[in-house]
Formats: sequence, structure tokens, C-alpha cells
Amino acid sequence: MNFELTEEQRAIRDLARDFAQSQIAPIAAEYDESGEFPLETIKQLGGLGLMGIEVPEAYGGAGMDTMAYVLAMVEVSKADASHGTIMSVNNSLYCHGLMKFGSEAQKQKYLVPVATGQAIGAYSLTEPMSGSDAGTMASRAVKNSDGNWLINGRKSWVTSGPVADSIVLFTVTDPEAEPKHRGISAFMIDTTRAGFIRGKKEPKLGIRASATSECIYEDYIATPDEMLGGEGEGFKIAMTVLDAGRIGIASQALGIAEAAYEASITYAKEREAFGQAIGEFQSIQWKLADMATRIEASRLLIYNAALAKTRSSETGQRYTQQASMAKLYASETAMWVATQAVQIHGGMGYSKELPVERYFRDAKITEIYEGTSEIQRMVIARNVLAG
Ligand code: CAA
Repeated sequence: MNFELTEEQRAIRDLARDFAQSQIAPIAAEYDESGEFPLETIKQLGGLGLMGIEVPEAYGGAGMDTMAYVLAMVEVSKADASHGTIMSVNNSLYCHGLMKFGSEAQKQKYLVPVATGQAIGAYSLTEPMSGSDAGTMASRAVKNSDGNWLINGRKSWVTSGPVADSIVLFTVTDPEAEPKHRGISAFMIDTTRAGFIRGKKEPKLGIRASATSECIYEDYIATPDEMLGGEGEGFKIAMTVLDAGRIGIASQALGIAEAAYEASITYAKEREAFGQAIGEFQSIQWKLADMATRIEASRLLIYNAALAKTRSSETGQRYTQQASMAKLYASETAMWVATQAVQIHGGMGYSKELPVERYFRDAKITEIYEGTSEIQRMVIARNVLAG
């Protein structure tokens, strides 16, 4: 397998790194503290082509491949995981789904503004009583006599819910369907339309600048041409899109882990105890060695998944297992590395004076959203047993 980066991939990585380090890193702590959505820098990321990296230029994107997306995600998340979340959902959960399943009219209306970074997209699968078991949702879309769909229900944990201009919504159109997931359909939602209500914003442990909320639908009317894909195809669309999303979250996790690791290296060289730099102690060296090894293994799994996704656009072969492996390993690595980083920094790791405690809080979500570690293990196990 060839992981050598092309000139174009190196260029987008460097562009993302320069912007992230000069514009995002300096404001990350302040936005984490306030929980304010960083609209200005998100728009700037859009201006750089980083909000629709894999979308063809004809639809306002950067027209690049998944490896380019991964590289940019790592750099942005290394500076601030909140920006990483917003960027990942926009790129993979929203744009990728529309590119793959959208009609030409849907692409013109809903993809172009989001891929250019002028508007923000969201993805809405989860409900208060339906998380890991995504097929059991309670929200409904009922077909009216005029052919339009009347949508009612409450969705939760919608990343960018408080600010999104449009949302890919998954809801039940046929409650009698067996199995249940075949009764789910997807719709493109315009958040300025009557019947769409932004619900309570979630107060969160980490990624605090990425706004997350409930979204409520009260007699929201969707026209037939606003259905994404066919009737009953929603669950498969949701799963297909999550395969892409999980590569994005794995990259976010890698960015967090790299930031925590690099801070630890610097600190281990500077901080002295018992007459020597703490990096001279074997107890610290072994932590650093394990951090470096797990980070490298995460990177290889992510690159492997990115190449599998690129191949998939030609062969049509699913890359579910590669994406789940990358997400599982990179997210558990991020949490583990951030925990070690806090320990290496001692009291300073627990203090808000340094970003290490933020890495620790931000890392946790990568083991939870877009499928918990338990769900990733379930997906991987089902694949290996079926193979
Ligand atoms: N690609 C395409 N199709 C898929 C698929 C995939 N990766 N995975 C499953 N399917 C298809 C199956 O082939 C099957 O199709 P048929 O009807 O033709 O048989 C159908 O979907 C049902 O599959 P399963 O029987 O495997 O479904 P399940 O009910 O057992 O659930 C699951 C599988 C993997 C557990 C799934 O429910 C899941 O991924 N759960 C986690 C949900 C999740 O990640 N939620 C996060 C939401 S987004 C978020 O976090 C917020 C945010 O904004 C960031």
C-alpha cells in the first residue's frame, strides 16, 4: 500500500496547518470557555475550500480526495477539536451524502452553498430514545393527500443544530415496515421554513465551541422532491454516510492525540524533577514511546480507510470495516494519549492555563459519537464473522 502523499495533498495539509495554527489555535481556549460558535473562522475555512474538500469544483468544493480530507482534518483538529467537529460533519455527513444520493436540483440548492462554506450543513439521525440502535426512531413523516410530507418529531444531539442552514434528516415514513429500518427515509430540511424549531442547546464536557442541540419538527412540510434517495432507503443512506463520517472522526481523534503528544514531549524536556528533566525518567519515556506508537498505528489505519474509500468510488465496494477500525483505534488512542498527557503534566495538566486538559475533555466524544466504540466493535465483528 502506497501512503506517499502527492504534491496536492501536501499542499492542502500545509494550507490547513498554517491556517489552523495562526488563526484557530490562538482562539481555541476562549471559544472553549464561552461555548460560542466560531462562525468567522468556520467561514474562513470555507473560503479556503476546507468545508467541501471532496466535493467537485463544479459544486463549489475543492475537488480533492479522501486523503486530502484526512490530512486537513488532522491539522484543524490539532489546533481545535471543536472546529474539527463542525468541519467533519459538514464535509462527510452532509456533503458526502448529498454528492452520493442527491438529485441535480438538490445538489444545486443544498450542496453548493455548504460546500463553498457560505452555509452550514448538519446530519440528524439520533433521537432522545434512539442512539446506538438507530433503526428505532419515533419521529414520523406522513404523506398528505397533496403528495407533500408532514414531519413531526424530536431529534437530539444534532451537531451544528443551533446554526445549520440545512439538515439531512432521517425519519420514519412507513411505521409498519419489517424490518423497521426499511421504513426510514431521508429528507433535505430547510431550517428557515415554518415547522422547524431549534431546541435546547446541549451543555457539553468537550468540543464546547461546536454547537449541539435538539431540533424539533412540528408539522414541517417537505415536498416530494426534498426526499434524499428513495422512500425506505434512509437507513442505508445513514449507514453509508456514517462510514465516511467515521474516517473524519478518526482523523479528528488523531489530531487531538498529536496535540497532546507534542505538548508532552515539550514538557518532558523542560520540566525538571529530582535534578533532571522528567523526560530522563523511564516512567515518562515509556509513556512517550507508547503514545508515539499508538499515534502511528492510528495514522496507518486512517490512511488505509481513506484509500479504501477512494477505491470504493470506482469499485463500489464498501469500506465499512476499515472505517470502523480506524475510528475505534484512533478514538481510543486519543483518549489514552490525552490521559497520559495530563499525567505527564501533573498539576499543570489539570490546569486551564495549558490546553492539555481541553485535549482530555475533547478526546472523550470521539469514543462516543458517530457510533460508540462498542458499536464499532460490533460492526467489525459482524464483518469478520461474515467474511
Ligand atoms: N453501508 C450500507 N448499508 C449498511 C451499512 C453500511 N455501512 N450497515 C448496515 N447497512 C444495511 C444492511 O445491509 C441492512 O440492509 P438490508 O435491509 O438490505 O438487510 C440494513 O442496513 C440494516 O443493517 P443491520 O441489520 O446491520 O442494522 P442494525 O439495526 O443491526 O444496526 C448498527 C446496525 C451498525 C448498530 C447501526 O444501527 C449503527 O451504526 N448504530 C450507531 C449509530 C450512530 O453511529 N449514530 C451516530 C449518529 S451521528 C452523531 O453522532 C451526531 C453528529 O452529528 C456527529
